[in-house]
Amino acid sequence: MLESQLARLAAEAARLRPLHLRTLLATPDRFGNCTRRAGPLLLDLSRQKLDDAALATLGAIAEESQWSDARDAMFRGEVVNPSEQRPALHTALRAAESHLPMLAPRNVLAEIAAARKQMARLVDAIHGGHADTELDIAGGITDVINIGIGGSDLGPRLAVEALRPFDLGKVRCHFLPNVDGHRTAGLMRELDPKRTLVLLVSKSFTTQETLLNGQVLRDWLAAAHAGDRAAADRHLVAISANVDAARAFGIPAARVLPMWDFVGGRYSVWSAVGFVLALAIGMPGFHAFLRGAALVDDHFRSAPWRDNLPVLLALVGIWNRNALGFSTAAVIPYHDYLRELPAYLQQLEMESLGKSVTPEGAAVAQATVPVLWGNVGTNAQHAFFQALHQGTDVVPVDFIGAIRAAHSLQANQDALLANLLAQGAAFALGKTYDEALAEAKTGSAAERHALAAQRTFAGDRPSSTILLDALTPESLGALLALYEHKVFVQSRLWGINAFDQWGVELGKTLAKNIEPALAADADTGSFDAATQGLIKTIRARRA
Ligand code: F6P
Repeated sequence: MLESQLARLAAEAARLRPLHLRTLLATPDRFGNCTRRAGPLLLDLSRQKLDDAALATLGAIAEESQWSDARDAMFRGEVVNPSEQRPALHTALRAAESHLPMLAPRNVLAEIAAARKQMARLVDAIHGGHADTELDIAGGITDVINIGIGGSDLGPRLAVEALRPFDLGKVRCHFLPNVDGHRTAGLMRELDPKRTLVLLVSKSFTTQETLLNGQVLRDWLAAAHAGDRAAADRHLVAISANVDAARAFGIPAARVLPMWDFVGGRYSVWSAVGFVLALAIGMPGFHAFLRGAALVDDHFRSAPWRDNLPVLLALVGIWNRNALGFSTAAVIPYHDYLRELPAYLQQLEMESLGKSVTPEGAAVAQATVPVLWGNVGTNAQHAFFQALHQGTDVVPVDFIGAIRAAHSLQANQDALLANLLAQGAAFALGKTYDEALAEAKTGSAAERHALAAQRTFAGDRPSSTILLDALTPESLGALLALYEHKVFVQSRLWGINAFDQWGVELGKTLAKNIEPALAADADTGSFDAATQGLIKTIRARRA
């Protein structure tokens, strides 16, 4: 952002700071009722520390950034990831479900359609349960292991878990992201290799964790097939943009589902990276998931900023970060099946927006992404909410809930939603010292004072509420697209590239160098003193 824009935000914040959210909440018709809807999503911003004038300033800054031109450029497939000279066309993956004219290049749409056809065929073959000679895939599959990490794990894992009630029950899905062998060994103990399909999901097909686990499981399959590699390899499917490397690994073309450089890993659940989801809920369910995202794409493309959910969510985030100075944010889904959402959003937001220089190499003028964290409610209430209510740091929260449950235990559902609503109210309104003192009925004046001080809640702590009508493939798709576009708008305002991730490279290189040094006798002279010392300890005590 420009200095003049930051100064405008600072002036608005100085004006609003003395106003408690109690006062703001009592303002009639605050920015036209604070609630906006897009399809199955409702966004309520009434508990944000904002008024109409501050929102208008944020909106003006968004308009000055020409966010809508940037958005259209992204949908058209222009290069929006300059450091890698790539477009970001995750929206093209769901364009077939859109009601607006397609903007993505025709050849891209054709490639996506062909890949989806191949995916549907594989899903059919696996659900059919018979060995398919043309695809050369094993029959009788009961379990699927999705090996992949980051974007090749978090989206599919979240979606499979979130959409459990829509699971067709044809296969059991397992996820193996980490190079930590405990889980790998556990899965090999637990599952029957003759009835297990292994998916190697890696956009680059160079990721150490995925390739190592892939090789271990490939050997496990081969051992179960008495060393018959060909029979064992019929249990492998790859999903990758590096089709040649997947083939070199030994997976024939018919079982390599393509993805592309124009889709970032953390934006890839809509591609064949979502294959495991399609195996769980079937292709019609997968299409419903895409339809939900397309609905938000259309909304993002057509609604003016004041009614545009992703833009509003982005602006509120910028307000909390850059005007009010909050350095972390929490996401609390009140839905057990959304327990993977905080981890998914951590990658989406922090890998996309964790940048401190512009594409031109200049230092950014303002703070960028807050540290994002969270857990499901109500569990989180009994763990870290104490700090959110009375700690010295203010943490803005996104509360997410579904109005209708996928079960008939209405009392549970009402208690869950009541807690969601109550926490937002408690954060906003707090409890004054006088209210707390009135509750302290016994003890001396000093004792009553001490107790009241400890039972006071400052309040004035902002939150947003997002309500889905119900958690379905469509509403989940809509929810994830909402956050994707929020991230895009923030990247535009902060002047950073949302689609690269150079910050993950250094650690990968160092790990590659350190790994051989863990073997006894290898030279450690090139490492820093701390690393050398720790290597020595590991070597000495590993036997
Ligand atoms: O290390 C970060 C990262 O590149 C993520 O961006 C990506 O989602 C993940 O690793 C996995 O990468 P790949 O799909 O290429 O194995």
